[in-house]
Amino acid sequence: MASLGVNIDHIANVRQARRTVEPDPVPMAMLAELGGADGITVHLREDRRHIQDRDLELLRQTVRSRLNLEMAATAEMEQIARRIRPDMVTLVPERREEVTTEGGLDVRAQLISLKGVVERLQTVGIPVSLFVDPDPEQLEASIGCGARWVELHTGTYAEASWSAQPAELARLTEATAHARNLGLRVNAGHGLTYQNVEPVAAIEGMEELNIGHTIVARSLVVGLEAAVREMKRLVQNPRREPLFGSLQP
Ligand code: PXP
Repeated sequence: MASLGVNIDHIANVRQARRTVEPDPVPMAMLAELGGADGITVHLREDRRHIQDRDLELLRQTVRSRLNLEMAATAEMEQIARRIRPDMVTLVPERREEVTTEGGLDVRAQLISLKGVVERLQTVGIPVSLFVDPDPEQLEASIGCGARWVELHTGTYAEASWSAQPAELARLTEATAHARNLGLRVNAGHGLTYQNVEPVAAIEGMEELNIGHTIVARSLVVGLEAAVREMKRLVQNPRREPLFGSLQP
């Protein structure tokens, strides 16, 4: 059964829209935990557009589940991770002009530099996950880097039309099996919604789904605790029958 990591970056996005003090992601993380979040994820970006250093410090002291820090593989972020000691670091590609993380890491192209970051963080006891596309070559490079975890990028699946979605789901399913055979543990995320999460949650060997946007959007209607509870129910008890089959020509 997959667990649920809740990404709370968007709470900080609303605060930063006015550069004020509310809403504060720190108490919101507690509400997410009360709703059943198995972990809290934040992305500390180089440009600090949403989560601030202060948030990370307070979340480290207050999160009672697991704190997953998404970050770019830079010297500044590595130093912050070593000081804060999150329960996991997820390395992601980062470009200033992007609205959100756009693609997975090109681990093959950055093997040497990523290997150094992974080794140094794991040596001080911080497990490292690499955010990658569901591509066998990237998975093989990830194990070559010494990573113990990958987070599969579900964005292409999430954005696919209904007729293309089964093939994208198959890519995620095959990538999960391949990663597990290589000895990697597997998370996934990006673009998952209440409508499309169940087939991904049902993939054999999937350990955790990291979900943000759709939960924060739903929380505007029902509150964060309830929005997390609704998502947790779907992640833990996904429908097993194919969602798409009856519509196939
Ligand atoms: N996983 C990673 C690596 C991400 O960068 C993000 C977005 O910040 C997510 C998961 C969550 O994506 P979404 O907000 O679309 O649920």
